[in-house]
Amino acid sequence: MIYAKNNPIPSDCGKRYRQCFEYMFCFSKGQPKTFNPLTEPTKSAGQKIKAFRITEVGRGNLPDEDIGREIKTQRKLGNIFYYNVGTSSSRDRIAFEHPAIFPEQLCEDQIRTWTNEGDLVYDCFMGSGTTAKTAHLLDREWLGSEISAEYVALAERRVAIYQGELKVASFK
Ligand SMILES: C[S@@+](CC[C@H](N)C(=O)[O-])C[C@H]1O[C@@H](n2cnc3c(N)ncnc32)[C@H](O)[C@@H]1O
Repeated sequence: MIYAKNNPIPSDCGKRYRQCFEYMFCFSKGQPKTFNPLTEPTKSAGQKIKAFRITEVGRGNLPDEDIGREIKTQRKLGNIFYYNVGTSSSRDRIAFEHPAIFPEQLCEDQIRTWTNEGDLVYDCFMGSGTTAKTAHLLDREWLGSEISAEYVALAERRVAIYQGELKVASFK
């Protein structure tokens, strides 16, 4: 999958186009155990799928000839995910004490897709605790590692806002 940035940090990258995406990989042993695909509405929901022909004079759908199947109302998202980055990444001011947070929406989309409620989500580079916060709000268990004691303390403070009585937001 590709994580595309709507508003990448401006940079002069010489004789190259601006860098505006990162890869996201899903590794699994065999088929992923859980896949809850995110969907979007289709444009022509309910209409019959038209026959398609290529002839000597052109190519296209035959308006009066359908193939009997209706276009579904929803379809799976494509594998390019677009997010606003920078100050749009989080509503938690505290998160910006870390220099490289990823967008909460990215985290939410991936956790929803690959896990169910009650599952354990592990982030080996926990940083400001975005994964922990999001997992908690989505009723998943979470676990993290972080090499910097400073950022561990930051993540703990951030998560406490949501796990304690100060809970101020929910994705539900
Ligand atoms: C890009 S940041 C992750 C940010 C996080 N996704 C967030 O939204 O806050 C990467 C983090 O990995 C930590 N890190 C780097 N090497 C590590 C290691 N070997 N073990 C654990 N954490 C590490 C860094 O200190 C940094 O906080």
